[in-house]
Amino acid sequence: MNVAPGTEVIGARVTGVSLAERPEGPVLEALETALEAHGVLIFPDQGDVTPAQQVAFSTAFGPLELVELDHALLPGHPEIFVVGNTGEKLVTFSPSDPDGELEWHTDHIHREVPARASLLLAREVPPVGGDTLFACMYTAYETLPAEKRALCDRLEVVNDVAGLGAYISRQGHEKIHRGDPEDLIENPVIWPLVRAHPRTGRRALYFGNQVSVGIVGWEAEEALRFIADLTEHACQTAHRYRHGWNAGDAVLWDNRRVLHAGTPYDLQGTRRRLHRTTVRETAEIRLVG
Ligand SMILES: [Fe+2]
Repeated sequence: MNVAPGTEVIGARVTGVSLAERPEGPVLEALETALEAHGVLIFPDQGDVTPAQQVAFSTAFGPLELVELDHALLPGHPEIFVVGNTGEKLVTFSPSDPDGELEWHTDHIHREVPARASLLLAREVPPVGGDTLFACMYTAYETLPAEKRALCDRLEVVNDVAGLGAYISRQGHEKIHRGDPEDLIENPVIWPLVRAHPRTGRRALYFGNQVSVGIVGWEAEEALRFIADLTEHACQTAHRYRHGWNAGDAVLWDNRRVLHAGTPYDLQGTRRRLHRTTVRETAEIRLVG
């Protein structure tokens, strides 16, 4: 196994590992170490891996989430969430135009059990567009001025899937994305804005620019402005890795210390289909490691 970090602050290319084999022992430990250290692991040439093998590989990292949206489920594989435009309904969290606002997030932050890690395997990709951006929340936190870091350490964020629903509506995706409105109605979930990584204690910002809709004890408007400013700092180009997909790429990321965002593609004229498995969080989300 070879782990080659990129030039960006996050992301590493992993070769010599096949997702067809469930990692164990030292291989699993090396992958866990690399996942925390680099945030995003890219495994090229995994196109022959079957859905069942992807599920088996993913379970090495913890229990998997079962897909809740019927139209995003891969039949026969309740753990596989199909992202893209090839199904009965569109499943996308990207802006509808090239300069549109992004949806930076960490998976399932609006749920009682968020996602600890996610794995996407690209089955079909458009010739242009549809990249995924990843931003390093260790760097985002560590490059804040000390005073602002101390402030962030004290804040608790209100995360609500309604914020995501509003974003999807603004992109004009609503009618094709949403089934019953109840699909997207959950209760707000509150987490600390800064969390320590359970493996290392290193602190990372933990929020989303659309799904985080408030700060406990703050006026709504002030909170939204704070979140927008924080996003601008946290997700700046210098903190990012941009993944342009090839079919067969698998990308595993650490939702504890990485935000990600989809970028637009031609929804009508091209096909994009990615299979996601989602590892449930099993550690406590807290400021101190
Ligand atoms: Fe996501």
